[in-house]
Amino acid sequence: MSKVVYVGMSADLVHPGHLNIIKEAAKLGQVTVGLLTDQAIASYKRVPFMEFEQRKQVIENIKGVHTVVTQSTLDYVPNLERIKPDYVVHGDDWRVGVQRKTRQRVIDCLKQWGGELVEVSYTQGISSTQLHNAMKEIGTTPQIRLKSLKRLLAAKPMLRFLDIHNALSGLIIENTKVTTESGVKEFDGMWGSSLTDSTAKGKPDIEAVDVSSRMATLNEVLEVTTKPIIYDGDTGGKTEHFVFTVKTLERLGVSAVIIEDKTGLKKNSLFGTDVEQTQDSIENFSLKIKAGKNAQATNDFMIIARIESLILGQSIEHALERAEAFLDAGADGIMIHSRNKSPDEIFEFCDRYSQLPNRKTLVVVPSSYNSVYEQELQAKGVNVVIYANQLLRSAYPAMVNTAQSILQHGRSAEVDENMMPIKQILELIPGGK
Ligand code: SPV
Ligand code: MG
Repeated sequence: MSKVVYVGMSADLVHPGHLNIIKEAAKLGQVTVGLLTDQAIASYKRVPFMEFEQRKQVIENIKGVHTVVTQSTLDYVPNLERIKPDYVVHGDDWRVGVQRKTRQRVIDCLKQWGGELVEVSYTQGISSTQLHNAMKEIGTTPQIRLKSLKRLLAAKPMLRFLDIHNALSGLIIENTKVTTESGVKEFDGMWGSSLTDSTAKGKPDIEAVDVSSRMATLNEVLEVTTKPIIYDGDTGGKTEHFVFTVKTLERLGVSAVIIEDKTGLKKNSLFGTDVEQTQDSIENFSLKIKAGKNAQATNDFMIIARIESLILGQSIEHALERAEAFLDAGADGIMIHSRNKSPDEIFEFCDRYSQLPNRKTLVVVPSSYNSVYEQELQAKGVNVVIYANQLLRSAYPAMVNTAQSILQHGRSAEVDENMMPIKQILELIPGGK
C-alpha cells in the first residue's frame, strides 16, 4: 500500500517552488494537500489574492496531487491527527520565523505514529512574497480593491484602518509593517477622514470641503496604493445627492462609505454637546440608507450607518434602537461613536449589539478612549477599528516645531536631527532618479 504524504499549502501565487515540493512529496507516496483557508492564511500573513475555491481548482489539477483537503488553521495538528500521514513534506524555510512553532508541533504530532517530517530545500530566486511585491508595483483595479474589504472581513476577526489626507499618508499605510512573534502586522486599509482631509485643506470639518474636492484627495491616494478605503461620507448630504456620491465612490473602487445620522450643519463629533448638533430621525436616515443601497451597482460596496446617540448624550438603548432600524433599512454595518475617555459605554454597546438578530459588521473609532487595546475590542465583537486622525495629528506638531526652530535660530541646522535626511527624502519615492 502506498504511503500517505501530507503537504500543507497556501498556494496563492503558484510558482516552481510549490511544484518542486509536490514533486518531491509524490516520490514518497500518495499526496494529500492540506489547502489553508483564507482565515488560516490571514492569521499569520496577508489575505491571498485568489479565493479558496480558485486555489483549490489550481492545486487539484497539478500533477502528483491525489487529494485536496481543507486546512482551516495554521496549525497542522487537527488534520494530521485525522489523516495520520507517514510523511509531512514542507520547504525548509519554515525553520525560522513565524512558522517555527507550527513546525515543532508537526514534528511532535507525527511522533505519535512514527511519521516523519521531510524538508525540501527552499527554491531560490522565487517566493510568493516577491511575487506579491511585484504585483503591488503593477497596482490594482477598482473592482479588485472594492471587493477586498469584504474579503478581509471574511478572513480576519478584526481589521485596522488609519487616516489618509493625501497620497503620502496613503503610502505610509500601504507600506508600514512591523514583525512580531505572531507574524507581520500592517494596516488593512485607509480611512478617508473628513476631519483630516478638511484640516489638510485648511477648512473646518463642517462639510465645507465639497465632494469633488474630497474625491480629488481620494484620487491621489488611489493612484499610489492598493489597500481598501472606507470613506467618511459625513451626513451623506441630501438623499438626492448621496446617491451620486455612492456611484462615484463605487466607480473609483472605494469599498465602503460611512454616513452619520445627523442633519443640518454638521459639526465634528468630538465637540459632542459643546456645539449644536441635531440627530436625524430614524425614518429619514433609513430612507437615505435605502436610497444609497438602491444606487450601488455591485454587491460588494458597503454602506455603514454611524450612530451619534452617545456623542449627543443619549442612552445606549437609544443607540441600539437605531442600530436595529438602520440594519433593517439595509445598512451593511454600524459604526458606533463615543467621546468618553473610558471605553465602558462602547463595551456595553458591543455586548448588547452582539445580541441583535440582524447584527452585521461593527466599526469603532477609539480616538478619545485611546487606552483600549485592539484585542479588547476584538473580544467584544468589533470588526473594524479606525484610527481616524493619528497620522495628521502626528505630522502637524512636527511641522510647527520645525517652523518655530527656523524662526528662533535664523537657520535650519538646529532642527536637522528631527527631520528625515535629504538623501532619504529624495529616495523615499522610487523612480525619481
Ligand atoms: C473623521 O475622522 O472625520 C471622523 C471621526 O468622522 S471623528 O473626527 O471622531 O468624528
Ligand atoms: Mg468625519
